[in-house]
Amino acid sequence: MATLSRSNKPPAPTPSRTPGKGVKSTQPNPRKPANTAKQAPSKDPTPRKGGLRSERLRALPPFLFNAIDDRKRAAIAAGKDVINLGVGDPDQPTPRFVIDQLITSAQEPKNHQYPDCYGTKRFLAAAAEFMHKRFGVKVDPTKNIVATIGGKDGISHLPLGVVDPGDRVIIFTPAYPVYNQASLLAGARVKKIETTPANGWRPDLSTLNESLLRATKLMWLNFPGNPTGASIALDHLDTLAARAIAQGVIVASDLAYSEIYFEQGPSSCPSIFQCPSVDINRDAVIEFHSLSKTFNMTGWRMGFAVGHADVVQALKQTKDNYDSGPFNAVQEAAATALERYDDPIIAAMRTEYATRRDIAVAGLRAIGCQVTPPQAGIFVWARCPVESGAGENAGKPMSSWKFVEKLIDEAGVVTVPGAGFADTAASYVRVSLTRETPRLREAMERLKALKF
Ligand SMILES: Cc1ncc(COP(=O)(O)O)c(C=O)c1O
Repeated sequence: MATLSRSNKPPAPTPSRTPGKGVKSTQPNPRKPANTAKQAPSKDPTPRKGGLRSERLRALPPFLFNAIDDRKRAAIAAGKDVINLGVGDPDQPTPRFVIDQLITSAQEPKNHQYPDCYGTKRFLAAAAEFMHKRFGVKVDPTKNIVATIGGKDGISHLPLGVVDPGDRVIIFTPAYPVYNQASLLAGARVKKIETTPANGWRPDLSTLNESLLRATKLMWLNFPGNPTGASIALDHLDTLAARAIAQGVIVASDLAYSEIYFEQGPSSCPSIFQCPSVDINRDAVIEFHSLSKTFNMTGWRMGFAVGHADVVQALKQTKDNYDSGPFNAVQEAAATALERYDDPIIAAMRTEYATRRDIAVAGLRAIGCQVTPPQAGIFVWARCPVESGAGENAGKPMSSWKFVEKLIDEAGVVTVPGAGFADTAASYVRVSLTRETPRLREAMERLKALKF
C-alpha cells in the first residue's frame, strides 16, 4: 500500500477530466467514495497554456481529505470495519420538531417558488431573536442579517464581496481550510499566523502589530475552533477585534459551534458582538452562524451571517450572483430550530458530546497522546504519542501522517492529521466526536491494542 505523504502537504489532486459540464471540483465530498472506475485516457480538451482548469483553481492547495479517503477505501477494500472519526458530520438526527416544520412548510405551494433569497421574514426574525436571547445582542433583522446556504456559503463568498486582488487577509492557523481557499479565490494575499500549543492555539497578541494590520483588509477568527477545539475568553476576543478594527480591518468571526459547549457553559462560545469594543452599527464586523452542527442539520444547508449593514450588503450582493437563497421550507424549519435553541434536546446533545469527549480523551491518553479536553465544539485535538525505539525520531512526537496511517491500517480508525492544517500541528491529530458513542468507545479500545 502506498504511504501517505510524509511532508506537511497531502498529495496533489488528480485534475478533473470532465469537459462540457463545467469544471469539476478537485474537492470531492469526503463522505462519498470517488468513482474508481477506470477512465480511458483523454486528450486535454483545451490544449492551451495552463490546461483546462483556471490558474485560480490550480493555485489552491489539494484537499486534505483526498489522501485520507484513499487510505480509508483501501482499508475497506481489505475487509476492515472502518470507524470514521475524520469528518465532523453529526450522527445524531435533526430534532423532530424541525422535521415536522419542514413537512408542513414543504406542502405550501408558495414555498415552491424562488426563495426569499436574503431570508424569509420569519427566519430573519428568529435569527435576530436568537442573537438577542442567546448573546444579548440587538440587531436589525433586515439590515444586519442574511440567510446563508450553510455557513460555508457565507464564509466562502465574503472575500469576493470585500477583498480586491492583492489585498492581505489574515488567518490564524491551524484553521478551517475554507478561509484560506476562499481568500485565494478572491485573489487575496493570505498571511497565515500560526498559533501554538503554548498559547492554547489562540492568537498571540504580539503577532498582530499595527503595520501588519494597517496593510490588511480582512481577518478571520474561529472560536471554538476547527480543528483545535480552542475556545476564547471574551476579553481576548475583544482585544483582537479592537486592534483590528482600529486599523480598519474587516473582522469575520465564524461561530459555527456556538451551541456545543461543556462545563464552562455558553460563555465558552462568545459572539464577537458581545465584545465591549465592537459596535455592529459602527464597525466592519461580521459573524457566521450555522444550523449544521448545533441542530444536526449538515444536510439541510442552512446558516446566517450577522454584521454591520454594509458588510452584510456586500455579502448579499455577491450571493445575488451565485445563488437564489435557501429553500423557503428549509428556512421555516431553521426558524423553528433557532426559536428552540434552548430545547432540552439540544442540552441532551451537549451531554452526549461531553460523554464522547471524555471517552476520546481517556482513550487517546491511554496510548500516550497529550490532550487538553476541549471546552466546546465537536473535535478532540491531541498530540501524537512519542516515537519509541532507537531511531532518529525516538523520544519525539510521531508525525501526524504516520500516526493517522497507523490508525487506519492497524485499527481501522480514521482521524485527520494536523500536518494538513499547519506546520505547528505536524504532530497533532483531530478526532471527531460525531460517531455513535459505542462506536467511539470501540475505536478507543482498538487503539489501546496498538504498539507505539
Ligand atoms: C469552523 C467551521 N465553519 C464552518 C463550517 C461550515 O459548515 P456548514 O457549511 O455545514 O454550516 C464548518 C464545517 O465543518 C466548520 O468546521
